[in-house]
Amino acid sequence: MVEKYSPMVQTMTSLLEVENLRVSYSARTGEVCPALSGVDFDLGYGEILGVLGESGSGKSTLAAALLRLLPAGGKIQQGSILFEGRNLLRASPQELRKIRGGRIGLISQEPSCSLHPTLPAGQQVSDVLAAHENLDRRALRQKTGHLLASVFPGDSERISRSYPHELSGGQRQRVLIAQAIACAPSLVVADEPTASLDPTTQQEILQLFRTLRQKLGLAMILITHNPALLAGLADRILVLYAGRIAEIGPSAQVLYSPQHPYTAALLRCLPSHLAEPPSTRKARLHVIQGEAPDLSWHGNGCQFEPRCTERMEVCKRDEPPAAAVSELHEVSCFKFAG
Ligand SMILES: Nc1ncnc2c1ncn2[C@@H]1O[C@H](COP(=O)(O)OP(=O)(O)OP(=O)(O)O)[C@@H](O)[C@H]1O
Ligand SMILES: [Mg+2]
Repeated sequence: MVEKYSPMVQTMTSLLEVENLRVSYSARTGEVCPALSGVDFDLGYGEILGVLGESGSGKSTLAAALLRLLPAGGKIQQGSILFEGRNLLRASPQELRKIRGGRIGLISQEPSCSLHPTLPAGQQVSDVLAAHENLDRRALRQKTGHLLASVFPGDSERISRSYPHELSGGQRQRVLIAQAIACAPSLVVADEPTASLDPTTQQEILQLFRTLRQKLGLAMILITHNPALLAGLADRILVLYAGRIAEIGPSAQVLYSPQHPYTAALLRCLPSHLAEPPSTRKARLHVIQGEAPDLSWHGNGCQFEPRCTERMEVCKRDEPPAAAVSELHEVSCFKFAG
């Protein structure tokens, strides 16, 4: 089995503290589009934070910014990212290489692009270990075997010899998870890790995350556009809208008692949505009215205002401040501004 994780800095209260993060992309025309603005949150040791939002809301940008892996044109313009007490924005390329894969594991949004097509699965896991740890061949083989066994109970030896094209989507995803946890990181960032899988396999992978969190004490940032995946898994949920935090709070409060009009609308889009108790669920399918936000917009008001059913005059003029609606639950909406 994988060794029990022991955090490097046990005295700190937060594993990750993101403050006032602002990321933008420069278009070829020279125009600068903000993708994340004023993003503030923290993450405790062993905590699972779900990040929820429509396509284009900035979820992958957040994952990439945390790992300092933004694509060409992307730039962190402001803010700080404190991870295990270190500001990642000031880390050297060498430190960042150690942190990525070593302290922070990434499961990216494109599983088919993440594995090498001509190398067996076992070797691909062992390569990650070899890049970060000084192990002899025997120890490397043993540790790879243990890792694969922890994500493939019963079937790991066959999987280890298999090439990616010989594996199912769910099996490939498990190999990626083995790579992400190979060096006992304290944080795994998983960007839509189950998006390409059928519902049964999705549930199996989510169950694997629960087990790994329990066994390894892993913290996770689990990115998805599907709120249903976060129920019973995430401790807290952060809702992004147009690159800003609309709502952040304990999972049950956000899912069952959403306060931001956008979160409420998003949850109503689920086929049997979570926002009502099962006895009152009806077979309705909602869509959020209006157009998805334009990130090149440089106005002052709330970006959700044109689509919001509860908009007020002030929403057109000013950006809503974050307001606490209860302990640990914050909403950026004028409904709650004092
Ligand atoms: N490489 C890039 N160059 C320019 N703009 C980009 C780039 N990557 C993302 N963007 C823009 O940044 C915004 C956020 O994109 P991002 O990929 O973070 O969204 P997302 O929430 O992950 O969406 P999805 O659910 O579709 O994966 C979008 O408007 C997108 O067009
Ligand atoms: Mg994405």
